[in-house]
Amino acid sequence: MGKILLWIVLPLLFPGLTAGIGWCDNSFCLGCHQDQTLTMKDVHGKSVSLFVSKTEFKSSVHAKLDCSDCHTQIKDDTHAAGGEKTTGQRVNCGGCHREAEREYQQSVHANVTMKGMEGAAYCYDCHGKHNILSSQNPKSMTYFSNIEKTCDRCHANIKFVREHALGPGPTPEALFKGSVHRESGKVTCTSCHGSHNLRSLIDPRSSVFRSNIPETCGSCHPQITKEFTESIHGVLAAKGRSDAPTCTTCHGIHGIKAVINPNSPVNERRIALTTCPQCHASLRIAREYGFSTAPVKSYLNSFHGLYYRGGDPYVAECASCHGVHDIRPPSDPESTVNKNNLKKTCGRCHPDASESFTKLSIHTFGPTGRANIGEKVVGWVRTFYIVIIIAVVGGMVFLNFTDWLRKTIDRRL
Ligand code: HEC
Ligand code: HEC
Ligand code: HEC
Ligand code: HEC
Ligand code: HEC
Ligand code: HEC
Ligand code: HEC
Ligand code: HEC
Ligand code: HEC
Ligand code: HEC
Ligand code: HEC
Repeated sequence: MGKILLWIVLPLLFPGLTAGIGWCDNSFCLGCHQDQTLTMKDVHGKSVSLFVSKTEFKSSVHAKLDCSDCHTQIKDDTHAAGGEKTTGQRVNCGGCHREAEREYQQSVHANVTMKGMEGAAYCYDCHGKHNILSSQNPKSMTYFSNIEKTCDRCHANIKFVREHALGPGPTPEALFKGSVHRESGKVTCTSCHGSHNLRSLIDPRSSVFRSNIPETCGSCHPQITKEFTESIHGVLAAKGRSDAPTCTTCHGIHGIKAVINPNSPVNERRIALTTCPQCHASLRIAREYGFSTAPVKSYLNSFHGLYYRGGDPYVAECASCHGVHDIRPPSDPESTVNKNNLKKTCGRCHPDASESFTKLSIHTFGPTGRANIGEKVVGWVRTFYIVIIIAVVGGMVFLNFTDWLRKTIDRRL
């Protein structure tokens, strides 16, 4: 009722607006919408504010547009039925920003919206409505250092995250807060995910799809990525195998820490205990790829492993000999553990290492799980003892039995 009254009363109060400047002049619309108390009920029956700040609009990139350039359905006579809140029909930003629209249509946010899900980001969730600024402007919602906050409005909201089944555990932003990337001030959500072309993790074209992760990290860590893609792990990762290590398997995802941070999963104190053993001591993965878990166990029981477990900071762990991002099988001539390169590899810490020194067996068990000569001798001795024990104990039992038998027969007689 009040609405209808307004429609009648307003032209009477402000005849100049409607007659002189024109029906669709912004100050005409703002004449009502600058009222901070103006509200309406949306389709869910929720009361929403219809306030539009003139000062914000005038300093936005769209200051020169007419209100109805965006609110195309809202004209004099169709006003009440034209907006998103009553019809669900969105302001179409793509009409003027075709490139952004085209990219956006490929994103996970557009996909879930098309499936009828509410709450996924549309243009104005990231850019704002009447306060849109260029992303070069430090006050913009899409200015580099404000992007995290823009995404967090949804992705850090636990209720939202649970409703959208975005996975259990801490939210990406909670993890990101403690990361070396955030500390650097040079990385934000869109650095890895992209903004308009941000795709679902399970989309093979996504920048964060498993086999594309090295390339995504590689935009800032190119040298490491180059080494990695040529390594045995990298070749496997490129095939998208879920057991193959990729950057995030070892480093984590949102909470990546500096290597020297004791909480980093790749801190030197963890490399030989968890980083490599998470796969190389796993029977399931070993069986799948046909390798032996012996290297881990034998390392931990070796002279290096014993010193390592004792806390010695200078002793060799897996990465000291195998490298990290450039790991290759020992048969590869470029491998640090190829027999022709051992003098150099061991020589870093054993400067006077001789040829024969480097021939010492590092993993007590060789690559195929076969025992070396020392282990074999121990094995033979062990077998010898077992035979002796069985013979002695068995002999005694036999002796006692025959003795008992004899006595029983004697008694019967
Ligand atoms: C660049 C496009 C654009 C321009 C120009 C624009 N708006 Fe909007 N407006 C939007 C979007 C996007 C929304 C949010 C979606 C919706 O509710 O329709 C919106 C929503 C609104 C709403 C509903 C309340 C709200 O905040 O959600 C009102 C009222 C409104 N606009 C009035 C105006 C007025 C008055 C002008 C002119 C001064 C104007 N708009 C200019 C894009 C625009
Ligand atoms: C006479 C006052 C008045 C004027 C002038 C006016 N509006 Fe409104 N506007 C309202 C009222 C009242 C509502 C709430 C309508 C309802 O409850 O259905 C509204 C609602 C809206 C909505 C939200 C509609 C929805 O369903 O989401 C938008 C957008 C809007 N107006 C934009 C404009 C634009 C653009 C202009 C200028 C062309 C304008 N208004 C001029 C009073 C006005
Ligand atoms: C009627 C056409 C039109 C519509 C609809 C429109 N825009 Fe714009 N937009 C423009 C124009 C024109 C500019 C350039 C202003 C300038 O360069 O000063 C612009 C600039 C921008 C910029 C800054 C670009 C830059 O390079 O700095 C962003 C961001 C933007 N618009 C987002 C949006 C969003 C989001 C919507 C929907 C809510 C939208 N636009 C709707 C015409 C439109
Ligand atoms: C998930 C958040 C998000 C959504 C949704 C989104 N954008 Fe953007 N947009 C950004 C970010 C962040 C930038 C800054 C540059 C970059 O990272 O590409 C940007 C940049 C832009 C630019 C370039 C001008 C500038 O300010 O740098 C335009 C124009 C634009 N967006 C329009 C749109 C339109 C139109 C839509 C809807 C079809 C849309 N955006 C949807 C986040 C988003
Ligand atoms: C260093 C790169 C990087 C940065 C920075 C980053 N992400 Fe991610 N994000 C990823 C990768 C890689 C995945 C895929 C993880 C997987 O395969 O399970 C992912 C997954 C996600 C997922 C889906 C899975 C989940 O954990 O819920 C969301 C949502 C997400 N990121 C949001 C964000 C937000 C919000 C930010 C900023 C606070 C952000 N990301 C910053 C790389 C990054
Ligand atoms: C308005 C709320 C909203 C905003 C703002 C928003 N998102 Fe989303 N996002 C969603 C919804 C809803 C989904 C879809 C969840 C699903 O797949 O069911 C989603 C999905 C994602 C996914 C894919 C998760 C998966 O499981 O594949 C990533 C990654 C993501 N968003 C990152 C971002 C980033 C980065 C930003 C900021 C630039 C951002 N989002 C801003 C609501 C939002
Ligand atoms: C098999 C586990 C593993 C994988 C896979 C892995 N890393 Fe690493 N990364 C490590 C370890 C261990 C260190 C610590 C090396 C050291 O102590 O010298 C490290 C160190 C780093 C460093 C810091 C040291 C430096 O040299 O600047 C960066 C950056 C890095 N990795 C990025 C990556 C990227 C990018 C990828 C994917 C292309 C990747 N890592 C894949 C285990 C891994
Ligand atoms: C937008 C650029 C950018 C992207 C993308 C990026 N990083 Fe970084 N990364 C940095 C910066 C900047 C630092 C901190 C500066 C430094 O100490 O080298 C850093 C630091 C690191 C460190 C700690 C280095 C150390 O000295 O201990 C690791 C590990 C790392 N990044 C791994 C990754 C992984 C894995 C990915 C992909 C999931 C990735 N980064 C994606 C820019 C990036
Ligand atoms: C996510 C699981 C995973 C992690 C973590 C991992 N690896 Fe691997 N690694 C594999 C798989 C699977 C193969 C077998 C690849 C093949 O056979 O094509 C492999 C192969 C190797 C090979 C070559 C073996 C051969 O038979 O020639 C070496 C050496 C190796 N890894 C060392 C390491 C070291 C050192 C680390 C820790 C810095 C490590 N790996 C971390 C899964 C992993
Ligand atoms: C990161 C440094 C480092 C690397 C690389 C390294 N070692 Fe060691 N190694 C040590 C330290 C520290 C000890 C502890 C005993 C000591 O102080 O001599 C040790 C002890 C030994 C010992 C027993 C003690 C001795 O000196 O006779 C042998 C044998 C040995 N290493 C062989 C090797 C071989 C073979 C290689 C190459 C395949 C190698 N090491 C690579 C640091 C290293
Ligand atoms: C002191 C150097 C050194 C250390 C420390 C070391 N390795 Fe090795 N590793 C070698 C050498 C040399 C070979 C090749 C000859 C052999 O099998 O003894 C090898 C072989 C391997 C192989 C077998 C390759 C094949 O063809 O089957 C794997 C897997 C492996 N190492 C993983 C690890 C893991 C995991 C760690 C840490 C828990 C580790 N290594 C620690 C030097 C080392």
